[in-house]
Amino acid sequence: MYPFVRSFLFRLDPETAHQLTLQTLRLAGDFPLSNWFLRQVYKAPSKPVRAFGLTFKNPVGLAAGYDKDAVAINGLSALGFGHVEVGTVTPKPQAGNPKPRVFRLVEDEAVINRMGFPGKGAEYVSTRLLRSARNDIVLGVNLGKNRDTPLEEAAGDYTALLRRFMFHADYLTINISSPNTVGLRRLQGREMLESLLSAIHKERQSISLGRGGNAPILVKVAPDLSDDELDDAIGAILDKGMDGVIATNTTLARDGLWSGHQGETGGLSGSPLRVRSEAVLSRVVKLVNGRVPIISAGGIMTPEDARKRLALGASLVQVYTGLIYRGPGLVREIVKGL
Ligand SMILES: Cc1cc2nc3c(=O)[nH]c(=O)nc-3n(C[C@H](O)[C@H](O)[C@H](O)COP(=O)(O)O)c2cc1C
Repeated sequence: MYPFVRSFLFRLDPETAHQLTLQTLRLAGDFPLSNWFLRQVYKAPSKPVRAFGLTFKNPVGLAAGYDKDAVAINGLSALGFGHVEVGTVTPKPQAGNPKPRVFRLVEDEAVINRMGFPGKGAEYVSTRLLRSARNDIVLGVNLGKNRDTPLEEAAGDYTALLRRFMFHADYLTINISSPNTVGLRRLQGREMLESLLSAIHKERQSISLGRGGNAPILVKVAPDLSDDELDDAIGAILDKGMDGVIATNTTLARDGLWSGHQGETGGLSGSPLRVRSEAVLSRVVKLVNGRVPIISAGGIMTPEDARKRLALGASLVQVYTGLIYRGPGLVREIVKGL
């Protein structure tokens, strides 16, 4: 069935196709009968995993960026995912970069995006979260700074988001690795990261002292860090008491591509990212040495790819571009193959 749907969707501009599928999922998820139908079609076997103090019904999650404003949680949770990460959410609403800003590289099974965190902002997303019935999935919220917040004041954006979402999410992700917000990735440097994570750690302590909120906090890293930069970033993440790592975000590299659009600026995801994400995962596993769990993302397109990430030491995996090329049945296919 998906090859047929795909040939229709691929005739549309990528962002239009995305909006269409997201809104369809939103509608289908919000009506009991269609929600039930989706659950029957996409039901995945139970393969529970414990990580970050949470129980996931299976290790496959939806990566951030698909449902930025948390509009389709009910529909997404019917597709068999063990967890769904919404966002990136910024404190204030913002428009993101001018369109077109998403490109398919079909021959490479890849996407380049330079969305730049478009979204309706934290207040809207928190009301969406209050309204959605999450049932049996773990819900993560991915947090980012607004484009017009100077880098030196980024901690203020993240701590405000932490306060808002600590009680609405099962886990939170600090996103400092998207390539489409100018300067954001500099927050991964040791000094800036230590100072940011200290502020986050302090904020978390004061929140949990007051009201007991203690959602695990993960940090999402880029695949383009050198070994030394990655060592520094993981060092800071562990020193500052963070609970986990997501490796990786999209890449700025453009090695070995065939398709048109490879000259577009933005983050590359999908098949060409696989090898680099695996290498970064292996290094993170070594550096972390069992102290915190790791979620692997980047170029997971098949059950085999997912099995390999778990064998390399990831506790969970996330997919995004694989869904565009293989369809939502990929989730069940991966879980079945584990
Ligand atoms: C269109 C698009 C938008 C994305 N937006 C976000 C985002 O807002 N925040 C984020 O942390 N990652 C974002 N990502 C990155 C994904 O979460 C994921 O880390 C990356 O795409 C690698 O996984 P994949 O190869 O399975 O797509 C986005 C990816 C795509 C393709």
